[in-house]
Amino acid sequence: MSETIRIKIDGKDITTFSGRNLVDVAKENGIFIPTLCYFRDIHPLGTCRICTVKLNGRHTTGCTTKVADGMEFEINTPELLDNRKAIIEMLYAEGNHFCPSCEKSGKCDMQNLGYDMGITVTRYPHVFSNKIVDFNPKRMIMETNRCILCRRCVEEVKTVDGNDVFSFVNRGVKTVVKIDYEQEAKLTESEAMRAMNLCPVGAILVKGMIHKEPFGEAKYDLLGKAVKPKSNGKALKRDDGGKFIIATTSLAGCFGCHMSILDADTELLDMLEIVEFNKSPLTDIKNFSKRCHIGLVEGGCSNSENVHILREFRKRCDILISLGECAIMGGIPAMRNFVPLQECLEEAYLNSPTTELGANIIPAHEDIPKMLNNVYPCNEIVKIDHYIPGCPPSAQHIWKVVKSLLLGEEFSIAHDEFKYD
Ligand code: SF4
Ligand code: SF4
Ligand code: FES
Repeated sequence: MSETIRIKIDGKDITTFSGRNLVDVAKENGIFIPTLCYFRDIHPLGTCRICTVKLNGRHTTGCTTKVADGMEFEINTPELLDNRKAIIEMLYAEGNHFCPSCEKSGKCDMQNLGYDMGITVTRYPHVFSNKIVDFNPKRMIMETNRCILCRRCVEEVKTVDGNDVFSFVNRGVKTVVKIDYEQEAKLTESEAMRAMNLCPVGAILVKGMIHKEPFGEAKYDLLGKAVKPKSNGKALKRDDGGKFIIATTSLAGCFGCHMSILDADTELLDMLEIVEFNKSPLTDIKNFSKRCHIGLVEGGCSNSENVHILREFRKRCDILISLGECAIMGGIPAMRNFVPLQECLEEAYLNSPTTELGANIIPAHEDIPKMLNNVYPCNEIVKIDHYIPGCPPSAQHIWKVVKSLLLGEEFSIAHDEFKYD
């Protein structure tokens, strides 16, 4: 029988039994340690490092630590919180995580941790590597780009005769998960579903079994903490009796964020009480005619003109806000980053059907903006002051953020407003 012991977590005395898992002990005492590779029925794997804590002053993983008498843990220090946030940001930057188009959105453990940590943007440049999406297995699709190499599937998914279905192949940064087609074909549908649910992200998908829950009703859609973004607490200055000046632009995006602004409906009238729009496709004012308090940028940079406009916005606006997934992460347009530019152009202009005979040419003229090799999030081109995630963010959300920044008001964002999808 385990002996009763005493440990300390962030200075709090806790009585428990020796040999228990730190993550579980902390949870029972109201202290949350985030986990990704750790799963209740699985032997701890220690692969993701998201649960890193300090034990007697030294870093260690919480999920692999068995508690013993006298241990002292630090769990929620600013340094450890920031380390965890950095790991999630790294995973976002290293994989190709386009939540708005992901089948696991709303049920994804990594996405949920992103919400909880209030991540709006990664501090690392996106890698946009091109890994295989494998449609060959009988029941599954393997989306290797989203895999965080947690090893859950490798350890836990076996056939009835005990064979492995998943394995790690290659080494170091080239490591990927591979499916054994012959073994995968032996899995029943419920075994395949278990594998999909075991994966903490959207890397393992079962054909015909995705998007089962209605939008907005998935596991994490209604959970989570409100996020409190920074506010400098100071209203922006405007000339006496004048209005705040706002500019907006749509770069490589779908114009959905602008449509969302229009969805404010009658609130647009409140907006227009204190705000005047300058350069904006909403007003069709094509050039800046004055300095602006806030610039709202939708879409990333896909061509030379996008870069030029974004730099102009940076010069002419006191505060620059990236609005929507494409501006923040590159979004759906950045999906072309995995294909060489020339191939994209050939597919679009030479190999696609056209109604106009002989129109199969790649347009090229000095007046046409030059396509960049990649689509870039705005913060990789200029400094961005604030981010409003969502695809698109709701009108109320956008207006709340903009109004609070203009008036210097503190504001919080409810979980269901703060969406990557
Ligand atoms: S929802 Fe999909 S794209 Fe978003 S973090 Fe999860 S796996 Fe990645
Ligand atoms: S496929 Fe999913 S479960 Fe398997 S290693 Fe990748 S992230 Fe983990
Ligand atoms: S949860 Fe502990 S290392 Fe992944």
